[in-house]
Amino acid sequence: MTRTRKGDGQTALVTGASVGIGVDLAECFARDGYDIILAARTESALRAVADRLANTYAIRATPMVADLGAIGGGQRLADAIRKAGLSVDVVVNNAGYGLAGAFSGSDSAGQLGMIDLNDRALVELTHIYWPTMLANKRGGVLNVASTAAFQPGPLMSVYYASKAFVLSFSEALWEEARDTGVKVSCLCPGPTASNFRERAGTGKTRLSRTGPQMSSMSVARMGYDAWQNNKRVEVTGFRNRLTASLVPFLPRTLLLRLVRNLQSPI
Ligand SMILES: NC(=O)c1ccc[n+]([C@@H]2O[C@H](COP(=O)([O-])OP(=O)(O)OC[C@H]3O[C@@H](n4cnc5c(N)ncnc54)[C@H](OP(=O)(O)O)[C@@H]3O)[C@@H](O)[C@H]2O)c1
Repeated sequence: MTRTRKGDGQTALVTGASVGIGVDLAECFARDGYDIILAARTESALRAVADRLANTYAIRATPMVADLGAIGGGQRLADAIRKAGLSVDVVVNNAGYGLAGAFSGSDSAGQLGMIDLNDRALVELTHIYWPTMLANKRGGVLNVASTAAFQPGPLMSVYYASKAFVLSFSEALWEEARDTGVKVSCLCPGPTASNFRERAGTGKTRLSRTGPQMSSMSVARMGYDAWQNNKRVEVTGFRNRLTASLVPFLPRTLLLRLVRNLQSPI
């Protein structure tokens, strides 16, 4: 007799699923029987992940090359998904990057690109699939923000602001989805082992020396479980939860000084 799994007959689209947290999020869904669409820019890496997940979990895994930082990238990805005859029940908006450093003298394309990928594409994909989720009364959205979402981030200002947007947007959608059967969660990781640090240039900040990074699989598991339980916000790890919970009680000017200090080069 075949055992039915939670995700049988459903498909999860996971963005940023070529490396890092996205790969492990895709694996969490695959393990429960969801078919997976993996999106990112690096085709070879996507193919390798898709093959591994399909073989290990007996699911359908489809790699889709997409630059979601490009304007309209979300719609082009959705068009390609439709052309391939696939549908989407769950959107995992994980693709994102950060850039450390002062706003002054920073590269404009890099700063705006963060908003395009971390926020614009996330809203675009959610907007495309949201009506179907509501009509089907199932599925939902798992958005990856950051502990950066809980306060402004001097010396990494646009990244922190982009993640505050993700948190605010996700919480609002969680409320809008109340009693519909559609689940919404916002995953807020603290420092996590992945390629993020190299691209963001945060490896030489004081923050990077304050403690160990969590593994991307443990972060992904927490995000996946939170989404399955329709938990509004999931901050990973005790230390990160404690810090995030203290933020509202700190005087704003002190908080800004503290974050600036943490984001300063060693
Ligand atoms: N690692 C941390 O410490 C940490 C902490 C808090 C929050 N986060 C968040 O967690 C999420 C995942 O990051 P990660 O740590 O796993 O970083 P990562 O290892 O750098 O992975 C980022 C993923 O996003 C994809 N990506 C980047 N630019 C893209 C684009 N223009 N279009 C489509 N895909 C793109 C990358 O694939 P390609 O390069 O192949 O496109 C990769 O799959 C991000 O939203 C990040 O902000 C990370």
